[in-house]
Amino acid sequence: MTRPLRLALLGCGTVGAEVVRLLHEQAADLAARIGAPLEIAGIAVRRQGRDRGGLPVDPGVFTTDALGLIKRDDVDVVVEMVGGIEPARTWLVEALRAGKSVVTANKALLAEDGGTLHDAAAESGADLYYEASVAGAIPLLRPLRESLQGDTITRVTGIVNGTTNFILSAMDATGAGFAEALDEATELGYAEADPTADVEGFDAAAKAAILASLAFHTRVSAADVYREGITEVTAADVASAKAMGCTIKLLCIASRGPDSTGTESISVRVYPAMIPRSHPLASVGDAFNAVFVEAAAAGQLMFYGRGAGGSPTASAVLGDVVAVSRNRLAGVRTPSESSYAALPIRPMGEAVTRYHISLDVADRAGVLATVAGVFARHEVSIATVRQASASSSGGATPAARGVDAILVIVTHAAPDAALAATVEELRGLDIVRSIASVLRVEGGV
Ligand code: NDP
Ligand code: HSE
Repeated sequence: MTRPLRLALLGCGTVGAEVVRLLHEQAADLAARIGAPLEIAGIAVRRQGRDRGGLPVDPGVFTTDALGLIKRDDVDVVVEMVGGIEPARTWLVEALRAGKSVVTANKALLAEDGGTLHDAAAESGADLYYEASVAGAIPLLRPLRESLQGDTITRVTGIVNGTTNFILSAMDATGAGFAEALDEATELGYAEADPTADVEGFDAAAKAAILASLAFHTRVSAADVYREGITEVTAADVASAKAMGCTIKLLCIASRGPDSTGTESISVRVYPAMIPRSHPLASVGDAFNAVFVEAAAAGQLMFYGRGAGGSPTASAVLGDVVAVSRNRLAGVRTPSESSYAALPIRPMGEAVTRYHISLDVADRAGVLATVAGVFARHEVSIATVRQASASSSGGATPAARGVDAILVIVTHAAPDAALAATVEELRGLDIVRSIASVLRVEGGV
C-alpha cells in the first residue's frame, strides 16, 4: 500500500453525508480496489456546529473555509457536493488549476459553465469526473464518455427528473390533476418545498445539456436547451393520451442529423410528450429515471435506475472517487473533454416532432375541411382524426343549437415551427371555440 489519498469533501448534506458514511463502511474494500487508503482531510460546510446525526467522522474535520481546505498541500481529490454556480465554480477552478482531481455532482454548474471547468482541467492535466450529475446512481456518463467512443450516437431520449416522473405517473395511475399529484409528491418527500426547478424543467434541461455535450462531442449549455415544464399538463391530457394507448412523460431529447440545408446539427429539448405504452420509457414509473440511447452501430441501449437520493447519488460519487484515485496512483488521467465536433445547435422551430391537438369546434358542414386546410397550408400532414360530440345548448338544427364537437388530430412528423404556426392559425378561426390541449408525440405512435 502507498500513502493514503486525501479527500476534501465540499458539502455534507443529503449526498455528502452518505458519501462520508460509505467511505467509512467500505474503507477496506475501497483501499483494496484503489491500492491506497482514502482519508478525509476535511469537510467544508455552511454551518459548522450543525448536528450531523452521528456521522462516523471526527468533528474536527468540519470547516467553513472551503477555499482554505482546497488549497491545502495534503489534499489530492476535491469532491464537490454543495451545488449552485458560485462559490462552487471558483472552488473547482482553484482545485483543477492546482492539479487536484475533481469529482462533482453539480449539474447546474456543469450545464451553465462546464466549459470553464473543462478548460481548467485541460490546462493542468487534472481529472474532472461528474457521473452523479445526471441520473444519480445510473452509470450513464461513463458509458457515453468511454464505452461508446467508437460509435456515433444519434439520439438520447431520457426521463431524467424523478420528481416530475413521480407526478406524471401518479396522474396516469389515478386520474389526479397536476396540483393534487404535486401535493402527494411533496408529502412523500419527492418534491422540494420550492419545486420550480423540477416542475418547470430546469433540472432536466441542465441534465440534457450534459448528456448532449458528451453524446455529440459538442459544448452544449443549459441556455441552448429548449425547455417546457409539466405545470400545464392536465388530467384531460392524460386521459387523451390513454385513449391513444399512450402515457405522458417529461422527456429530455438530444438528437443529431442534417438540418433543412443538409448541415449536420443537433437539437436538445425538454418537454412533456405522449409516448406509446409499448415504448421502453413508458413503463418507467414512480421517481425512477431511464435513458434510451440510440447509436449507429450499437443500436438501442437502455439505462435505468434511481436518479436521486443520498445513497444512490453517493454510489456514483464514490465510483468517480475510485476512478480518479486510481489515475492519480498510476500517474495518468482520463482524456479531457471531447468537443471537437462543435456541431451547430438547431433552434426548436427546426426540431422535427409530432403534435396531438384537441380542438373544440362547431359541429357543422365544412368545419373539418376548413381545419384540414390550415394543416395543409403549413405543410403539416394529418395522421389521424377522431371526432366526439362535446355539448349541446338547445335549438332546432345542429347549427342553431350551437352543437360542439371535439376534434382530436394527431399529425405526422413536421418541423415544430410549422406545427406551432398551424396551432396559432387554428386558434384564430371562428369555428374553433377553443384549443383544449396541444402536446407533442414522440416514440413512434
Ligand atoms: P444539500 O442541500 O442537502 O447539501 C448541501 C451541502 O452543502 C450542505 O452540507 C451545506 O452545509 C453545504 N453548503 C452549502 N453552501 C455552502 C457554502 N457556501 N460553503 C460550504 N458548504 C456549503 O444538497 P444535496 O446533497 O442534495 O446536493 C448536493 C449536490 O448534489 C448538488 O449539486 C445537487 O444538484 C447534486 N445532486 C443531488 C441529488 C440528490 O438526490 N440530493 C441527486 C443528484 C445530484 P450545511 O450542511 O452546513 O448546511
Ligand atoms: N430533483 C431531482 C429529481 C434530483 O427530481 O430528479 C436529482 O437530480
